Amino acid sequence: NEISNREQKEKVAEKIAERVKNGDVIGVGSGSTSYLALLAISKKVKEQNLSVLAIPTSHEVSMACSILGLNTSSLLNARPDWSFDGADEVDPQKNLIKGRGGAMFAEKLVIKSSPENYILVDSSKFVSFLGEKFAAPIEVDPRAVNLVETELLKLGANEITLRLAKSKDGPVITEAGNLILDVRFNKITSEYEKEVKSIPGVIESGLFINYQVEILTT
Ligand code: A5P
Repeated sequence: NEISNREQKEKVAEKIAERVKNGDVIGVGSGSTSYLALLAISKKVKEQNLSVLAIPTSHEVSMACSILGLNTSSLLNARPDWSFDGADEVDPQKNLIKGRGGAMFAEKLVIKSSPENYILVDSSKFVSFLGEKFAAPIEVDPRAVNLVETELLKLGANEITLRLAKSKDGPVITEAGNLILDVRFNKITSEYEKEVKSIPGVIESGLFINYQVEILTT
């Protein structure tokens, strides 16, 4: 019997909690799977009275840490020993699309700063190529939206959507005060992350190509 996505996420959360040791500085990704992992970790930290420092990747995670009683720090003050995060798509080469939650800028900073990264996913996240299900999110300075759109079309984008907020009128504004374009490309090649990033006004993309990551699943 196939177990539900939620049950799969809970199992992976338990797996990652097993890794936690006293004194660890842990980068904490955003999204529902990361949240379940954080719950499992905070339970272990309390039960075993461990001292652990979390580096959150969003306000959402900072608040969750505060509610769960986990101490936090930032990349300015500490360096993660390891990190965990979710993903929206994982291809056979362990390349990722992230950023459904809009936190990919901070997530990329943490993943790049961390010597070990665990990507926690249920089976629905595996794809045969990036972009199979999800559009690639691109965080853009609001002044650069038209310029970035023009350049993305030249790069082979075939659908560009400004991400709109669900609970207010107007666009999603990221924690850094930027907009998000959700972009579908004809084909995402291994050069795309760099090419997209080189457009003036692009802050970051949700393409994670050739990162040091280990995929954890059930
Ligand atoms: C947050 O910006 C994203 O990168 C998440 O890591 C991703 O959307 C996965 O979320 P779920 O664990 O909720 O599927």
